Amino acid sequence: MTDRDVSRPNSTPSADDQHLVARYEHLLEITRQLNSTLDLGTLLNRIVRAATELVNTEQASILLLDPATGELRFEAASNLSGSAMTAIPVPMEGSLAGWVATHGEPEMVNDARSDSRWFANVDKTIKFTTRNLLAVPMKIKNEVIGVLEVINKNDDEKWTGDDIYTLTTLASQAAIAVQNARLFQQSDFIAEIVHELRTPLAALRASTALLMRANIPELRRAEMLRTMHEETERLTAMTTDFLDLARLESGRARLETSEFSVLELVQECVGLIREQAGERGIEIVVRGEDRRTEADRTKIKRVLLNLLTNAIKYNRDQGTIYCTVDRRDDLTAPCGLVVLIQDTGHGISPENQKHVFEKFYRVAATASQTGTGLGLSIARRIIEAHGCEMGLTSELNVGTTFYFTLPIAHAQPRREPPASAVFSRPKDPSQ
Ligand SMILES: Nc1ncnc2c1ncn2[C@@H]1O[C@H](COP(=O)(O)OP(=O)(O)OP(=O)(O)O)[C@@H](O)[C@H]1O
Ligand SMILES: [Mg+2]
Repeated sequence: MTDRDVSRPNSTPSADDQHLVARYEHLLEITRQLNSTLDLGTLLNRIVRAATELVNTEQASILLLDPATGELRFEAASNLSGSAMTAIPVPMEGSLAGWVATHGEPEMVNDARSDSRWFANVDKTIKFTTRNLLAVPMKIKNEVIGVLEVINKNDDEKWTGDDIYTLTTLASQAAIAVQNARLFQQSDFIAEIVHELRTPLAALRASTALLMRANIPELRRAEMLRTMHEETERLTAMTTDFLDLARLESGRARLETSEFSVLELVQECVGLIREQAGERGIEIVVRGEDRRTEADRTKIKRVLLNLLTNAIKYNRDQGTIYCTVDRRDDLTAPCGLVVLIQDTGHGISPENQKHVFEKFYRVAATASQTGTGLGLSIARRIIEAHGCEMGLTSELNVGTTFYFTLPIAHAQPRREPPASAVFSRPKDPSQ
């Protein structure tokens, strides 16, 4: 490719001049508009729309690099629903977007069918035919944060140096706008955290001020110390939650996966909360098959403990909790196992169901129970970080079922050897 020069092309006195001037004016106007929103979703949609308009193509899409896994993921496309795209993994090797992200340079394909770097899997998945495409890096200084692609030029002409220049300029402006939106999301979160920290801090402050007085009766003093201890515990738990959520949201949380039995983990967690359930006469039933998964055990334990604690907190006295491990009907699904935590509590109304996974959201009717409203948002993010999903079904005055899926471990569960083979050593596969 010779026309990799992305500096502004020399103006040639041709009929195209007017068209170019109009294009650059349009580019200028669009980059101004990009900075007028801090909502990431809106911003990404604006960028893809602007890209198709500016270089006159059928479609455009944005792939952002996940800082934790280094994976490239579709985040927005001009004519497809987000969910259809995000399910498509784009490998760093063997895809044009991967090449652009790795090398930090634009690249184009004038005939996709004859170019091996075109990752045809995407076409197959979304039933779309790519004829030609141009991909440019989204860079901040020298760091690539994603790739902006435009697909199928409307006139099917070859890509020009001007197309590359226009798209590269748009991509670098877009990268800054994306970073600003991300920073804004973080600062919003910080404001909420500070707000949440204020309540326990106020309790601690009041107690310490009282304790400093000399004439406090011993009984009252002990009571205040207990409050201080509880509030300190609450603060500690909250700061752990904040940190975990911030890591999960920014993609910095790393998964340490291992293979383990899901049923065993459920039983372990139930063991930890059985006493708490017993205090309210709540029975816990564990059932299902001994399925093995490959996941981050500590994080999945956290998910289970929050769901089980919720099932106790928001249950009725003498209620029941059913924990089930099952295999999903769709055997080809990447997350083939499902865990269900079902309670016999008051249920969650359809309106509240829409919000329970949001940070800090707590249903007003349950406000007498302690909690920060972060448990479910952390839990869902952990499950999504595994590429799996979490959801719920609920009926008022009947109960709620939270479920999440997990990947099936590649290796099958150990089978009992046939009686005749009990004493023979299994063959080492490496021999
Ligand atoms: N099993 C359930 N039945 C009824 N309501 C529930 C259930 N689980 C969660 N909720 C509602 O959803 C809200 C959010 O749950 P979440 O676990 O995120 O926060 P929390 O339990 O309030 O606090 P924490 O951060 O300590 O977990 C709860 O406050 C409660 O109103
Ligand atoms: Mg909770």
